[in-house]
Amino acid sequence: MCGIVGYMGFRPAAAVVLNGLQRLEYRGYDSAGLALFEDGKLELYKTQGKVADLRQLSSFDTTTQTIGIGHTRWATHGVPSDSNAHPHKSNSGELLLIHNGIIENYDALKQLLISKGYVFHSDTDTEVLVNLIEDVQKSHNYKLGKAVQVALGQVIGAYAITVLDIKKPNELVVAKLGSPLAIGVGENEYFIASDASPFVEFTKQAIYLKDHQMAILRREKPIVLRSLKDDNKADYYLQELSLDLEQIEKGGYDHFMLKEIYEQAHAIKDTYRGRLLGEESLIKMAGIEEHLEKFLNAKRIIIVACGTSWHAGLVAEYILEDLVRIPVEVEYASEFKYRNPIITERDVVIAISQSGETADTLAAINLAKEHGAFVFGVCNVVGSTISRATHAGAYTHAGPEIGVASTKAFTTQITVLTLMALRLAQAKGSISKEEFKSIIAELELMPQKVEVALLQNKTTLEIAKRYQTATNCLYLGRGVNFPVALEGALKLKEISYIHAEGYPAAEMKHGPIALIDENMPVIVVAINKGHYDKVVSNIQEIKSRKGKIIAVVTEGDQTVKALADHVIEIPETLECLSPLLTTIPLQLLSYHMAVILNKNVDQPRNLAKSVTVE
Ligand code: M6R
Repeated sequence: MCGIVGYMGFRPAAAVVLNGLQRLEYRGYDSAGLALFEDGKLELYKTQGKVADLRQLSSFDTTTQTIGIGHTRWATHGVPSDSNAHPHKSNSGELLLIHNGIIENYDALKQLLISKGYVFHSDTDTEVLVNLIEDVQKSHNYKLGKAVQVALGQVIGAYAITVLDIKKPNELVVAKLGSPLAIGVGENEYFIASDASPFVEFTKQAIYLKDHQMAILRREKPIVLRSLKDDNKADYYLQELSLDLEQIEKGGYDHFMLKEIYEQAHAIKDTYRGRLLGEESLIKMAGIEEHLEKFLNAKRIIIVACGTSWHAGLVAEYILEDLVRIPVEVEYASEFKYRNPIITERDVVIAISQSGETADTLAAINLAKEHGAFVFGVCNVVGSTISRATHAGAYTHAGPEIGVASTKAFTTQITVLTLMALRLAQAKGSISKEEFKSIIAELELMPQKVEVALLQNKTTLEIAKRYQTATNCLYLGRGVNFPVALEGALKLKEISYIHAEGYPAAEMKHGPIALIDENMPVIVVAINKGHYDKVVSNIQEIKSRKGKIIAVVTEGDQTVKALADHVIEIPETLECLSPLLTTIPLQLLSYHMAVILNKNVDQPRNLAKSVTVE
């Protein structure tokens, strides 16, 4: 889960690579490095820290080299340090390599290389790989491309790599298995990156390398793709990018997270646009229509996901079971893969992932496929690994989400899953025409209502100021808002580092109530739907123990207002759609808390946006 960037062309490579790395920092940001090459001269810079720290190492503005490779790292093997930062050099100093992924059998390969006299200067698996390629190259007198292909044949694991051979100054070799790799193709220039964001302002033409493929890029020559399995030439498809620069910039907001919170009204609309045909009372989703029978004949739906996407899956469980009447199980992808689950051909597996690259979710998908289940993906990133690994799917169309804390991905995932539930319920006849119509009419009002919920920004800021010294928080909700409580707690934990737990409100009396005293802020989703009266009782129980109550309520609520220390009002809506609104103030609250505490909101410590390791 690192970011890699490469450039070969006519522009100063340092600027292209450093700016590109900055855009990929969401993938990892504990160390960074850059190699520049021209006229037989190599310059190598590596540092623990961020790309901003790397920029301090030299006056890159004046550099003119037109070949460069760079890396931003999320440590897997070896602590974040200068020596573990990429690019890694081979023992001869001739090969340089950047790598995103994990070489699982690196230790065995390392021992083999040590027995041949190789020495290592880092703790990384990547340094093993670059020396393995060198060993193959030197033992057989192979060209670089062939050496890469043969060496990768000995590797178990995942990788997206770029290799530079200083003896072949006008050539870069890239290869991929498991980790993403995009090649931007310009006029007399090539870009390499973990996603297209580093080169979107230079070219709109991209090749997404497939697994088991490598490409040889030569200056001013056509690209050559080969299969890593048999070395045969492979065809490629030049994809036209629709990504704009402004989509990946902050657009006047202080942080990507805040921008993305505010984008939710639009994002939800983009998610249902063209799918929800209100006037005709129809929902059209190609991926569902083409496989309707699979869904309707399913004995069970299993949802696999991680983190926030798992929370969206929990919301979907309530909605799917209620509307479609098919049993739903929601699984942490990481547990599912390793607990020998019972999966049959009559199961439909829905995999949810913003990035479409999460290794645990991908592993769960592969397991489900091996057992013959039909797998449907709900992803945001178009062309991502998971979107390609699934049998069918639906994109969320949320646009790029760059803040590590997921926000608009959550609400758009819920939107897609709700559309799916409605379509399936209609096809199954498990929903009345009136209910169907009322839900889609309300869904069409959601963007407007999200805008209203966002007006609570100032209230959430005041609450964050008041509780900035809290060391623990509880989040409570019931029914479809229980997963919202989990999501609220996760948001607070990951960006402000305050310990927080989410619980179903009624579960509190079975243990967590022991934690409540006058220092404990308890955030309760208490809208006037579902088990409102029961939630009011739960609030009474907290109040009796002097807990501080911050309640998310429906506009105009008086009962909870009389009990709570603070209320945050959201517009009235249907219970099944309420997570689209109740989650907004919880996102804002965490955001403000993190800003007040001076935390790095977009790049919280120890985290990365795409978790491509199991
Ligand atoms: O890209 P994915 O949706 O598969 O990512 C899953 C989790 O890693 C992700 O939701 C993570 O929990 C977020 N940082 C939460 O804000």
